[in-house]
Amino acid sequence: MAETPKNIGGVALVGSGSAIPSQKVTNDELGMRVDTNDLWIKSRTGIGARRVIGPNETLSDLSHLAGEAALQMAGWSPESVDLILLATSTPDDLFGSAPKVQAKLGACNAVAFDLTAACSGFLFALVTAAQFLRGGSMRRALVIGADQLSRWVDWDDRRTCVLFGDGAGAVAIEATSTEEDALIDFKLKSDGARGDCLNLPQLGEFLPLITGTTHQRGGFSPVQMNGQEVYKFAVREVPAILGELLSANKIDPEKLNWLLLHQANQRILDAVAQRFSIPQDKVLSNLADYGNTSAATIPLMLDEAVKDGRVQSGHLIATSGFGAGLSWGAALLRWRGPI
Ligand code: COA
Repeated sequence: MAETPKNIGGVALVGSGSAIPSQKVTNDELGMRVDTNDLWIKSRTGIGARRVIGPNETLSDLSHLAGEAALQMAGWSPESVDLILLATSTPDDLFGSAPKVQAKLGACNAVAFDLTAACSGFLFALVTAAQFLRGGSMRRALVIGADQLSRWVDWDDRRTCVLFGDGAGAVAIEATSTEEDALIDFKLKSDGARGDCLNLPQLGEFLPLITGTTHQRGGFSPVQMNGQEVYKFAVREVPAILGELLSANKIDPEKLNWLLLHQANQRILDAVAQRFSIPQDKVLSNLADYGNTSAATIPLMLDEAVKDGRVQSGHLIATSGFGAGLSWGAALLRWRGPI
């Protein structure tokens, strides 16, 4: 067991992992199902393909694989993990999929639960886990972002189905000294009053129970979205919250090594980067390969960039998650990686 630093108050990001389904659907292939084409999708979103969970895979499987890879990078044994937070809006089980992931990992000492905040889920979970570590009650946490929106989009609705895909990503975080804190600052926001532009609502179907009484049938309608409203929300709120965070911490955007935004749309990424004069080569994007994997986008992208050597120990990252709720947030992070 690694020694616990004395003046706990910070967290270090020490490992990452990811997993994607084996089934890939390109824009051209999607064009065989709905009236769309590669040119329209690429020019409006930057998306080229997406992954879709098939019959032999589950969200828990992907989360397990992503979590296991993060543990390996961190050099942790599963038994040493205290907390597993699974950010997802699309669990295999509505009671929560985190305990299943805990069991698959063999992380027998970890408490595991789901956290739902749509596409902001990973960021909200990262910040939540960090509070347990900073408080000193836990030492090691695995934060997983995973979603399978393929189960919940209407594959005949070209306005939404082209955007989403499935995947999972994970980050291993460890309690450390205040001086070494990698979560430099964060800000999280919710506005339920504006939430009607992006929903995955209950069916709202009532069936007779006994005479004079009804019960609601379980189930959900497909994703409903007002794309233009969501777009406007993102390009207004993301620069605003990132700007607040950067100025509160007196960080010049030039000092950032990476801009790591929720991967929803390349035009949103470009608009935010432009607002801070961040050059394209500092903007992380894998939209072309995976589309919007909801809570998975940030750790999936981070893991790819760590593995290919773009993100290196000590790098300063500005990140932002945003989506249904409405929910959004931003954080300034420093990647450490394994020692
Ligand atoms: N293929 C081809 N044509 C399509 C299409 C598709 N997949 N989807 C919509 N269109 C058509 C529309 O029917 C419309 O045609 P019309 O002018 O004949 O009526 C036209 O393209 C323009 O549609 P519109 O909805 O105005 O496009 P847009 O420029 O707003 O782009 C989005 C649509 C969805 C790409 C864009 O609004 C967006 O990215 N919004 C944010 C969504 C998001 O990120 N959601 C998740 C957040 S976590």
